[in-house]
Amino acid sequence: MPVRAKRLDLIPPYLFGEIARLKAAARAEGKDLIDFGIGDPDQPTPTPIIDRLYEEAKNPETHCYDESDAGDPIFLKQAAQWFYNRYGVEVTTDQMVLLIGSKEGLAHLCWAYIDPGDIALIPDPNYTVPKVQTLLAGGQPYLMPLTIENNFLPDLTAIPTDVAKAAKLLFLNYPHNPTGAIAPLSFFNDAVRFAKEYDLLICNDCAYAEVGYDGYQPPSILQAEGAMDVAIETHSLSKTFNMTGWRIGFAVGNKEGITTLNRMKSNIDSKQFAAISRTAGWALLNASNADTLALYDLRRKRLIDGLNSLGWKLDYPKAGFFVWIPVPKGYTSMTFAKVLLEKAGVLVIPGLGYGELGDGYVRMSLTINGDKAGERVDEAIRRIRETVTLEF
Ligand SMILES: Cc1ncc(COP(=O)(O)O)c(C=O)c1O
Repeated sequence: MPVRAKRLDLIPPYLFGEIARLKAAARAEGKDLIDFGIGDPDQPTPTPIIDRLYEEAKNPETHCYDESDAGDPIFLKQAAQWFYNRYGVEVTTDQMVLLIGSKEGLAHLCWAYIDPGDIALIPDPNYTVPKVQTLLAGGQPYLMPLTIENNFLPDLTAIPTDVAKAAKLLFLNYPHNPTGAIAPLSFFNDAVRFAKEYDLLICNDCAYAEVGYDGYQPPSILQAEGAMDVAIETHSLSKTFNMTGWRIGFAVGNKEGITTLNRMKSNIDSKQFAAISRTAGWALLNASNADTLALYDLRRKRLIDGLNSLGWKLDYPKAGFFVWIPVPKGYTSMTFAKVLLEKAGVLVIPGLGYGELGDGYVRMSLTINGDKAGERVDEAIRRIRETVTLEF
């Protein structure tokens, strides 16, 4: 066999491997695990969306290559309409490109902009794709610390001027995975000013755009003044409508940024099955996922109330479906995750997997397989109370 490309050695070690091994061992022993690990909606895609797919799939027009420039124009028009309805920002389809999920868009954006040695500004902790793909493209991630003191928003003024001047991309992700943090529009305004000053392209990953609680609707960076000059945003149906497996989303924003991303993409992928993209566009304008949101809301309150009864002092997250929990005294994120798994049969993700600064935390996802109405959350809290010694 030929030797694999050296760039693959740049992929950081798979930190979840040890947890995956313990999970498999516990399952093999027949242990009842309560899984707060995976960030994948446990509820099915709403039935009207599935019915619509069936109708779209019967249309032979959807069966061929999509030869459009940036993705099925019907989908892009529907997505543009949704964007206007949701944010009051008018966009045209030449400011958009279809994505096969936001992961794909984030990855290819790195390849479209990063040459060897180029810098991308990336939060730590963060969803892993921007950092890994910057490394694979030969670039240098400059990590912006997200700390509780800064409400898990990067302090842009702390970035050294020479780094900001040399950087090309600024990655943001609000609502944030893994911290559950949100960004006020004022922060997006600051980020846009910063990007203009240093000639950067911002990419805000908005995968959790529609997962908000108590009436909170996360803003888009494109609502910030002048954002269209320097920013793009990635959107996805994955979490909005429990459609992670369908692989559909879009990027929207600065025309040059979108065209550059599409130049890379059009030489790699052939877009998405049009029955899926048209169904997705229809869903954006017509479907509701209120039942799933109500379930996350219930679990969110039960989990935070339960953890606080054990000694934590946590606020309810306002958006997304992650709870970011500081580990008790004497633990790292990995040792605490192991203890919860081995003693309580409760699976959480060690924060170290999202960056060095995640090490003081574990992440719990509100997407709990097998939970109907918070009963598995209550059971997890009971088991932790009875089996794990906690000191704060
Ligand atoms: C912050 C963030 N961005 C992007 C993605 C990937 O989403 P998609 O299914 O749209 O590729 C995820 C998935 O977990 C995520 O948490």
